[in-house]
Amino acid sequence: MTAVLEGLGVAVPQRVVTNLDLERVLDTSDEWIRTRTGIGERRVADPGVATADLAVEAGARALKSAGGGPVDMVVVATTSPDRVVPATAPEVASRIGLEPVAAFDLNAVCSGFVYALAVAAGMLDGHATQRVLVIGAETLSRITDPADRSTAVLFGDGGGAAVLRRGEPGESGAFGPFDLGSDGSMADSLAMPAGGSRRPASTSTLTGREHYMRLDGKAVYRHAIARMVASSRAALDAARLSAGDIDRFVGHQANLRILDAVADRLGIAPQRRVVNVDRYGNTSAASIPLALADAQLAPGQRVLLTAFGGGFTWGATTLTWPRLATV
Ligand code: UT7
Repeated sequence: MTAVLEGLGVAVPQRVVTNLDLERVLDTSDEWIRTRTGIGERRVADPGVATADLAVEAGARALKSAGGGPVDMVVVATTSPDRVVPATAPEVASRIGLEPVAAFDLNAVCSGFVYALAVAAGMLDGHATQRVLVIGAETLSRITDPADRSTAVLFGDGGGAAVLRRGEPGESGAFGPFDLGSDGSMADSLAMPAGGSRRPASTSTLTGREHYMRLDGKAVYRHAIARMVASSRAALDAARLSAGDIDRFVGHQANLRILDAVADRLGIAPQRRVVNVDRYGNTSAASIPLALADAQLAPGQRVLLTAFGGGFTWGATTLTWPRLATV
């Protein structure tokens, strides 16, 4: 038995913030952002729009793409939940009209969607679950310091969702084995310092701008390449595939240079890699489904997915692209 993809949906805010918009408010330049990251613009949610709103929209679209029907479980991968307590997923399930299904959040930062797919596949393998709605949604703009040029240019908002059902290996849409990993010794390299039990909110955390993400770009950059390469190799090995079998490479959309380096080290030709970081920036847990939806994949194409994020966390898997209804 394996998990099979049968629906995909996305939701992005209408508002576009270009590099030129950022040039006006920050000591940065379109040239710096493009050459260092490949990002040209990103979407930003209007005030009042939260992660659950994007998750509901993307989730409903994925269900429509899958032809409707019941699901047993909703997993929302997010780093920017509506609230610390409770989780975002129960509200999302309820608003889509799915209650009383099992619903929970999963935080693996930018690897969240791949982790959530793996969890869903495991639940489907347990046979008590028939169908899972997996959502990756973020409003990173809420936890990004608009005055910090080292992060403000990188992140964007968005959501994406997939419906997974139980199926057989070799079926169209079937996922291969998953490789997942983490290295908590690097936790501080991409972190929001305050707001949790370690440093609860206080006047000093607010004035210190500790409720925004902080990034050690160089450390993340280095590890991202090494881990995504190793994880991709492990997922390929487990699926008994080689890089030459891969038609399209969908890596976490954080930085075009990272995508290029990972594809190059794996021996995947540049034209096979999917790129939409230029239009959305880094949308963390939403990045993989947004890239899948953008990639114009053809049924039967063999796809390699890999992601890396704060934690550190990473993961990879393969799948054979199915015929999907677009909504
Ligand atoms: O989502 C999880 C995965 N996240 C990532 O993969 C992010 C990984 N890291 C990266 O993508 C890159 O490290 C960055 C894009 C974040 C930074 O690129 P970099 O080539 O590593 O630049 P840097 O951090 O070494 O900064 C180089 C210079 C610095 O100036 P000095 O010290 O050399 O004078 C920075 O202050 O660029 C400066 N800088 C900027 N300049 C203009 C940093 N941010 C900006 C900016 N505009 N926005």
